[in-house]
Amino acid sequence: MMPLLIDGAWVTTAHAEENRNPSNTNDVIDLYAHAGRAETQAAIEAAARAVPAWASTTPQFRFDILNRVADQVIGRKTEIGTLLSREEGKTLREGIAETERAANIFRFFAGECLRQAGELLPSVRPGVSVEVTREPLGVIGIITPWNFPMAIPSWKIAPALCYGNTVVFKPAELVPGCAWVLADILQSAGVPKGVFNLVTGQGSVVGNTILEAENVEAVTFTGSQGVGSHVAQACIRHMRKLQLEMGGKNPLVVLDDADLDLAVDCAVDGAFYSTGQRCTASSRLIVTEGIYGRFIEKLTERCRALKVGDALDAETDIGPVASAAQLETDLKYIEIARAQGGNLRAGGDLVKGSNEGYFLRPALFTDTTNDMRINREEVFGPVASVIRVRDFEEALATANDTEFGLCSGIMTTSLRYASQFRKESRAGVVMVNLPTAGVDYHVPFGGRKSSSYGPREQGRYAAEFFSTVKTSYIRA
Ligand code: UN1
Repeated sequence: MMPLLIDGAWVTTAHAEENRNPSNTNDVIDLYAHAGRAETQAAIEAAARAVPAWASTTPQFRFDILNRVADQVIGRKTEIGTLLSREEGKTLREGIAETERAANIFRFFAGECLRQAGELLPSVRPGVSVEVTREPLGVIGIITPWNFPMAIPSWKIAPALCYGNTVVFKPAELVPGCAWVLADILQSAGVPKGVFNLVTGQGSVVGNTILEAENVEAVTFTGSQGVGSHVAQACIRHMRKLQLEMGGKNPLVVLDDADLDLAVDCAVDGAFYSTGQRCTASSRLIVTEGIYGRFIEKLTERCRALKVGDALDAETDIGPVASAAQLETDLKYIEIARAQGGNLRAGGDLVKGSNEGYFLRPALFTDTTNDMRINREEVFGPVASVIRVRDFEEALATANDTEFGLCSGIMTTSLRYASQFRKESRAGVVMVNLPTAGVDYHVPFGGRKSSSYGPREQGRYAAEFFSTVKTSYIRA
């Protein structure tokens, strides 16, 4: 059994769960401990005890630890990338790239330990000065999804530790393997006991214990809207600081003047890579009339040529859906889209692989309208739909006509349209001639409307959530 990490010690539990490979459900990766309420409480208490000493470590001490974590993650990138692909189902190329990204995130926040500047201002009163500084919050609850099992935990854990907080980490149940490796690396990089705690297990037990605990100061969550709203309500009940990253229904606009090949590349990547399981996925392809026919023809051809199969097979373009439950959701939405009049141009059917796995051919719908459920609700699978529009103005209005606001993209060679889209798109991230998914690790990430809540993640902006501001007035 792969144990929990509580107060610097590896802890086994009465109950453990199997972790299975979605490319081959007969492949059991390992057994992972399932924490109960008592273990989760113990982790939270250990994290609370560790706060004063960790918060007063020097920036150099935290830099060295986070830098060592980066070294170890990068040094083990093939092994970790393979585990990631085996447990989550994205291709090995994507699994290794995500592992590199995780290492880079730790390296970035190692550097940020040394760049925690404050401000010194003269007061409006004579003889008084004002100092604005940042301080750690205390214990941070980190709750993460299964779709980026290395990158998302890293972009929450690294800043939490960088700014002097301690952590109780609850990864998604589908991906305890990557979480465990991260815990192992943090431990061997010298994180003092109690500063980082891993509690694998169920949301209803571990997650809820974190949400209800008195000494958790802040919760950062990435996942579904439904769970996000539950997290928000619990946090607000306790007046706790909160950061949520949730769904998207991200538009990729393709204008008549776009480079056709580039537009098709970006649509395939944004919609279907990582099996479409990204909250940044381009699930609404909004295409103007003049390019519509050519775009659909080329995109359909490309979709049909995508090789769906075992995540670890070098030939595979699209790995399996991550779980039986997610596959069921994907198939349900394919049915809904059909029933509402969508034209299934490619895919949408199950692929028989050499193993038992959740293999779904990427589904491309045309003839959809923006009011159909397929264009309003997040599927979180390899399902994209095309919406035909007259011109740029209609494209922009359609792109913004959604309850979400995470990412948006536009394919165009016109500077004027690109500039207007960047300005008027109501999304947190805007891409010009790029897929909507695939973001850098050193700049802010997050959205508007129902996609996100609270301060941005990543880059220097992470300080906003992971620290609290103190304003001191000093009369000399
Ligand atoms: C990316 O597209 O590079 O869960 C990152 C998600 C997002 C991260 C996407 N929070 O898909």
